[in-house]
Amino acid sequence: MAPSSFFHLLLIFTMSATTIESMPTFFPRATYHSSLLKQAKDSKPKIPYKTHYFPQLLDHFTFQPQSSKIFYQKYLINNQYWRKGGPIFVYTGNEGEIEWFAANTGFMLDIAPKFHALLVFIEHRFYGESMPFGKHSYKSAKTLGYLNSQQALADFAVLIRSLKQNLSSEASPVVVFGGSYGGMLAAWFRLKYPHIAIGALASSAPILQFDNITPWSSFYDAVSQDYKDASLNCYEVIKGSWAELDALSAQKQGLAELSRTFRTCKNLKSMDPLPAYPVQAMCKIIDEFSPGATKLSRVFAAASLYYNYLQTEKCFDLGNGEDSHGLNGWDWQACTEMVMPMTCSSESMFPPSSFSYQEFADNCMKNYGVAPRPHWITTEFGGSRIEQVLKKSGSNIIFSNGMQDPWSRGSVLKNISASIVALVTEKGAHHVDFRSATKEDPDWLINQRRQEVEIIQKWIDEYYKDINHG
Ligand SMILES: *[C@@H]1O[C@H](CO)[C@@H](O)[C@H](O)[C@H]1NC(C)=O
Ligand SMILES: *[C@@H]1O[C@H](CO)[C@@H](O)[C@H](O)[C@H]1NC(C)=O
Repeated sequence: MAPSSFFHLLLIFTMSATTIESMPTFFPRATYHSSLLKQAKDSKPKIPYKTHYFPQLLDHFTFQPQSSKIFYQKYLINNQYWRKGGPIFVYTGNEGEIEWFAANTGFMLDIAPKFHALLVFIEHRFYGESMPFGKHSYKSAKTLGYLNSQQALADFAVLIRSLKQNLSSEASPVVVFGGSYGGMLAAWFRLKYPHIAIGALASSAPILQFDNITPWSSFYDAVSQDYKDASLNCYEVIKGSWAELDALSAQKQGLAELSRTFRTCKNLKSMDPLPAYPVQAMCKIIDEFSPGATKLSRVFAAASLYYNYLQTEKCFDLGNGEDSHGLNGWDWQACTEMVMPMTCSSESMFPPSSFSYQEFADNCMKNYGVAPRPHWITTEFGGSRIEQVLKKSGSNIIFSNGMQDPWSRGSVLKNISASIVALVTEKGAHHVDFRSATKEDPDWLINQRRQEVEIIQKWIDEYYKDINHG
C-alpha cells in the first residue's frame, strides 16, 4: 500500500473545519480531490439560485475552425436582493460542480442584501455540467487541451459582459469572489480584466505556490505544525506510525493485518458530523486510545473519523495501492500548468520526500501525453517579487487567509499597498470566511468578514464616485 493515500487523510483534517461544506477544494494530489467531488455529487446541496446555460466559445485565443465551437456553460443567479444598477458579485468557479461552491459560499448571500447585489456563480469549464465535449471531454489531450486557467478567465469575462448587456446594467460594478483555486482565479481575473471587475476577494488563494516562490516544504510543515499545536504526543504518534506501516507492508501477513485494521473503521458510527476542530478531535482519539495499541492502529482510528463522516462504502481500498491516475480535470491541470512542487522535510510528521520535475514530467507524459509547463503560471500571472510588482501595477484585491490552513503559506500574507490587502487570522481554516455566518462564529472571524465588507463597500463607493464625476 502506498502510504501516500493514507497521508492525505491527515491533510484533510487540517483543511476542513465544521462541516463537509468546508472540505478543501483541492489537494496536492488529485486522487482524493476527485473522490471528494464524487461524494459531493451524491448529495446535491439545496441553494437559492436559478440555473442558466450560456453558449460559450471553445477557444478564446485562436481562430481555428474548431475554436468557434459552442458549449453550454452553467451559471447560477440570485436576484432576490438586487436593485437594478447595483453591484454584481461573481463567484469565479473552481474545479467542481458550481452548486457545491455556491453552497459553500453563504458569505455572498449574507452580504447581498446590504449591497443590493446580484449574485452570480459561474461554473469552470470541464467541470460539473460545463463539458465542452460532453462525456468525451476527458478523453485525451486533444479535448482536455482546452482546459486551462486562461480559457476559464476568458469564459468569465465573456459571460459577465453578456449578462450585463442582457440586464441593461453595463454600468454595474462587478466584484469577483473565489476560494482556493477559485480564489486564485478571482485575483488573476482582477489583474487581467481590471476593466470588467473593480475588485477581487481571494480567500485561501495560494497564488505563490509556484516555482520557488514559497518553500516547497511549507505546506506539509504547516500541516505538521497544526498537529503539534494540538498535541505533541499526537504529532509524535503520527510521525512514528510510518515506520510501523512500512514494516507491516513489507510482509504478506502484515498486509492482511492492515486490511483488518482498516475494516474496523466501517463499524464506527457513521452519521456524526465532522467536529468543529477536526485536528484536535483526531488528536484526542490518538491521545486517548488504549496505551498498548500500536501507533498505526491509533492513527487509523483517528482517520476513520473522516471516512465515516463521508459515509464511504469502503473504508479504504487497500487492494488498489497505487494512486489511480484516472483522467480527471484537476489531475490534468496539475500536469499542465498548475505545477506546485511539494516536499516533506524531516521536521514534518510525514516521511521525508523530495520533488523531481523530471519524474513529475515523466508521469504526466505517461498519463496524458503532455509535458507540464512549470513556469507558465508565473510567466502569465506573475508571482515573483509580487510586493514590488503589484504595489505599482495592481489594486483592489483582498487576500484572506487563516494560518491553520496549510495552503495559506502559498498565499499573500502581507499588505502590498493601500488597496491590495492581506487579512490574516491565526485560527482560520481553508476559506472559512466564505461560509455562512452562524451564531457560534468567533470574534476573529466576524472581524475578518466585517473588514472584507468595508473594503468592498469602499471599492464600490469609489467606483460610483468616479463614474458620476469622471
Ligand atoms: C444574453 O442573451 C442572449 C440572447 O438571448 C443569450 O444567447 C445569452 O445566453 C444571454 N447571456 C447570458 C449570460 O445569459
Ligand atoms: C493590512 O491592512 C489592514 C488594514 O487595512 C489591517 O487590518 C491588516 O491587519 C493588515 N494585514 C497585515 C497582514 O498586516
